[in-house]
Amino acid sequence: MGTRPRSGPEARSGGWRLTRRQDVGALVEDAAGSSLRRTMGVAQLTLLSVGATLGTGIFVVLGEAVPEAGPAIIVSFVLAGVTALFSALSYAELAGMIPGSGSSYSYAYATLGELVAWVCGWCLILEYGVSVAAVAVGWGQYVNELLDLTLGVTLPESLSAPPGDGGTLNIPAALIVVLAMVVLLRGAKESAVANTIMVAVKIAALVMFCAVAFTAFHAGNFQPLFPLGTAGMSAGAASLFFSYIGFDAASTAGEEAKNPQRDLPRAILLSLVLVTALYVIVAVAALGAMPWQKFEGTEATLSEVLVQSVGGGSLWPILLSVGAVVATTSVVLTVQYGQIRILFAMARDGLVPPLFAKVHPTTGVPRANTVIVSGFIAVLAALVPLGSLADATSIGTLFAFMLVNLAVVLLRRRNPDAPRSFRVPFSPVTPILGVGFCVYMLFSLGADTWIAFGAWMAVGLVIYGLYGIRHSKLNQLNQPNELNQHQELV
Ligand code: ALA
Repeated sequence: MGTRPRSGPEARSGGWRLTRRQDVGALVEDAAGSSLRRTMGVAQLTLLSVGATLGTGIFVVLGEAVPEAGPAIIVSFVLAGVTALFSALSYAELAGMIPGSGSSYSYAYATLGELVAWVCGWCLILEYGVSVAAVAVGWGQYVNELLDLTLGVTLPESLSAPPGDGGTLNIPAALIVVLAMVVLLRGAKESAVANTIMVAVKIAALVMFCAVAFTAFHAGNFQPLFPLGTAGMSAGAASLFFSYIGFDAASTAGEEAKNPQRDLPRAILLSLVLVTALYVIVAVAALGAMPWQKFEGTEATLSEVLVQSVGGGSLWPILLSVGAVVATTSVVLTVQYGQIRILFAMARDGLVPPLFAKVHPTTGVPRANTVIVSGFIAVLAALVPLGSLADATSIGTLFAFMLVNLAVVLLRRRNPDAPRSFRVPFSPVTPILGVGFCVYMLFSLGADTWIAFGAWMAVGLVIYGLYGIRHSKLNQLNQPNELNQHQELV
């Protein structure tokens, strides 16, 4: 495993501690010698990304976003998809170059220096750890809906909502996180098999939705296409951005991929194309079946769209609720997996305690890491309301995406000849546009979210100052020099 100091020229030249960088070659070496097991091919990696992406966004957020844009919500989906695509291209280039498990944290470490890498890793805790909690809360809501539809019972509010939302503890949300932990402890291969089955179920649920909804299709529902103007369409895109978060999940599996250089870029881009196509078709089917005005105030989930447009008793809502429960389960599983792998990479670099990089000899799983991370997320899911969690996820994700786009531009200048299995076309224009899209979206988030983000970052910087800066593995590079100087003085 990567306990050896980075020996590349970049690491050696990093004079000031906060801007010291890891050498790309050393990162590749670390990934190659990883103690994690290589079991995933391109199909499983793609399914990992699809598993992490397709969830609450399409099953719920679509219904909430339609009143903002009208039928132009279809264009909003494409716009949000294009925003994601710019960053996906950058992820693909860097994942093919630095095929570790640290995702954008590792890319930032090789380009923008240790402090920015830490900030990026800290943002990824929002993108991964906090979003799992958000999706787990959504999972609890669907389970309650399903219980209601099938058995006519629901869990009491005090046990299924957090303190801010009229309850005391959200037990179902914590439960799904613990169940995901049990699967993750069995190993990456077992988790990937479970994910593959769930992805198949959720895609089947969406295909079924489209097949039924198209029987009630009215082309007139799309006239006019932009009833709320382009401003409505952009607002819809900002809301729907959440539904694309997760396409980068394959970049946390670089050390468990059989051929990461070849397969990671393919998996990232393939999953995004697949998900965008599905989103657009589902949106066309939903809007064709139900006029957009009817979405207003109904909190129309996909199951409600079917009830209102084609009827069908309680069969469709039940089937779609099952699909939604399965969909959110796979998001929880894959994103929780991603968070654990990112901390694994940070621990190997010495920025968080080594316990997070300790791998169990028989399962090949970072066990203590899995238990600690899952426990943290379960507590968050049990105690914090969904809205606050979702906003925190968006700001953290956009910040990390922005850094990834910047990293592509910098690495092209600094390491122009490093092997790249995929190259972003038209660089630096494309990644710079990627930065622009992220900044635009960041500024469309509310002041409250920015304040919470500032507080989160302040806590992160204190932890870095107290622990990471001193324990960083890059410190080992300086020690021999210090020793030599000392010896000379003696
Ligand atoms: N993209 C994920 C979802 O929609 C976070 O659930």
